[in-house]
Amino acid sequence: MSSGSIKNINIVLLGAPGAGKGTQAEILVNEYGLLHVSTGDMLRSAIKEGTETGLKAREYMDRGELVPDEVVCSLVMDRMSREDAEGGVILDGFPRTRNQAEVLDASLKAEERKLDKVLYVAVSDDVVIERLSGRRVCPNNCKVYHVTNMPPEKEGVCDVCGEKLLLREDDKPETVKNRLEVYKKSTRDLVDYYRDKGLLAEVNGDLEARKLFEEIDALFRAEGFIDDDTQ
Ligand code: AP5
Repeated sequence: MSSGSIKNINIVLLGAPGAGKGTQAEILVNEYGLLHVSTGDMLRSAIKEGTETGLKAREYMDRGELVPDEVVCSLVMDRMSREDAEGGVILDGFPRTRNQAEVLDASLKAEERKLDKVLYVAVSDDVVIERLSGRRVCPNNCKVYHVTNMPPEKEGVCDVCGEKLLLREDDKPETVKNRLEVYKKSTRDLVDYYRDKGLLAEVNGDLEARKLFEEIDALFRAEGFIDDDTQ
């Protein structure tokens, strides 16, 4: 299956917390060589580094609320203006509000770029809760695991760096409940926003990760996004 490259294609991964956006982004990066731009990862790095952005973001993230648009938009626009983003990006966790979507549209247009596809990773609330309660992360951000779906080779320890795996601060049950509510209130409307623009493709996020990737790969091939290395 697969192996090919994608160039100059900009993709958004849209979906509930825990839908599997980050997991698919990692597979897509490995398979096609696109740049992964995850607002969640950027904000967590800012918190770890103790930057001003991190200090601002922390109080929102710990409660499962959205970080203010201006903070997130400035991070993303800065990242997308760098040279390595010119060949195309996978945006994971951005946009999350109508305002963020409009800022992204305007910024791409100003640079004579465009959004090529929005993958809506659709999952049920039950799946979200099962995935987030079982998620374990590496403190060095090497990899994301799940206690049953994607366990590490040695229980509780990162396969790559050997550090002890952690439960993400915002994966505690009371915060997950709020994140789901915030998603339904602020982000889910973007499904219609992008459907109206003819950019939306819904994929079945309940599928096992590799099966879901195969669905996405078929879709990208049908769209003519992939330069196949094997031909
Ligand atoms: P962010 O880090 O973006 O969190 P999220 O959108 O809630 O998404 P998650 O990272 O929780 O889940 P995911 O869909 O990537 O799932 P994953 O692949 O890990 O944001 C965190 C916070 O930052 C927000 O709450 C907000 O405060 C702030 N923020 C971020 N962006 C913002 C923005 N644009 N505006 C304002 N604020 C912003 O998978 C989950 C688990 O399931 C893992 O354990 C994985 O191993 C497992 N799994 C994945 N796929 C499958 C599969 N197909 N089958 C079985 N198991 C699977």
